[in-house]
Amino acid sequence: MQTASQVLDRVLVLEMVRVTEAAAIAASTLVGRGDEKAADAAAVEAMREALNGLDMDGTVVIGEGERDEAPMLFIGEKVGTGQGPAIDIALDPLEGTTICAKAGPNSLAVLAIAEEGGLLNAPDVYMDKIAVGPGYPAGVIDLDKTPTQNVEAIAAAKGVRPRDIIACVLDRPRHEGLIAELRAIGCGVVLIGDGDVAGVIATTDPDTTIDVYMGTGGAPEGVLACAALRCVGGQFKGRLLFRNDDERARAAKWGVTDLDKQYDLTELARGDCIFAATGVTDGSLLAGVKRMRGKMTTESVVMRASSGTVRWVKGEHRIDA
Ligand code: FBP
Repeated sequence: MQTASQVLDRVLVLEMVRVTEAAAIAASTLVGRGDEKAADAAAVEAMREALNGLDMDGTVVIGEGERDEAPMLFIGEKVGTGQGPAIDIALDPLEGTTICAKAGPNSLAVLAIAEEGGLLNAPDVYMDKIAVGPGYPAGVIDLDKTPTQNVEAIAAAKGVRPRDIIACVLDRPRHEGLIAELRAIGCGVVLIGDGDVAGVIATTDPDTTIDVYMGTGGAPEGVLACAALRCVGGQFKGRLLFRNDDERARAAKWGVTDLDKQYDLTELARGDCIFAATGVTDGSLLAGVKRMRGKMTTESVVMRASSGTVRWVKGEHRIDA
């Protein structure tokens, strides 16, 4: 019998793309239609069907929510045929539901898989995040430092001035202080409406000019972004944020005991893992689904941590009349 690692490599790498493609194609029929729930539901259903066709004993560890709040792809749901080694799955069939509904940039279908126990079972709470791409000395970012101190450290390591640094931040009222502090030291701030998985990954691509991602967003999206950074390099720090006792209780349920812990990249996604994404709408990482006469096109990326292989996959799919 093959080990989980061999299965990740030989069998599942390209299969992952089929899964994210299916979700992206389903969601794409609802781009710009103003219905977030319908777009999400279409992506969820398509991703679940595609996952269930794969030979694996998969368990959703980050999904659409807890069993009582998500009819499909809930945390703990078993997916796959049950044949093969145990694999943990983190998924977001439609990352950026609002973006999709409004036909904005960077909405993605996203999936990460790892050997059992490889992905933090992050509760659905907020996470304070900071991320940089590859090439920086270890420890250059730290959530215990101020945004100014982090920017100064990044600028020094890059050999530029703090005012040459570009930060990506979710455009939210809760980030007013952060944005003001960054602008006060001369940083450029790229504000995104949604979609911080793409925001974090943008730090790894010099073409985006984004040096650092900062701010709070979903903890599940933090784990998904970490799976990608494990494959292409970069650093990430995350700390769970709890707004009430119910959220603290959720954390305890998923085995989180130290509520103030600053997590490092490899504590959120460890061991071998695969990250796959397909564009739903055009974005910095991937082009979205395009429909033309008789066919549609998709653009996906699939990458693996242990080998560092990154595959860009352009798909053409026939549309039957
Ligand atoms: P959804 O796909 O669930 O809509 O998430 C979009 C997103 O922007 C994430 O990328 C981000 O982590 C989170 O929402 C931020 O949450 P909030 O909208 O509450 O600020």
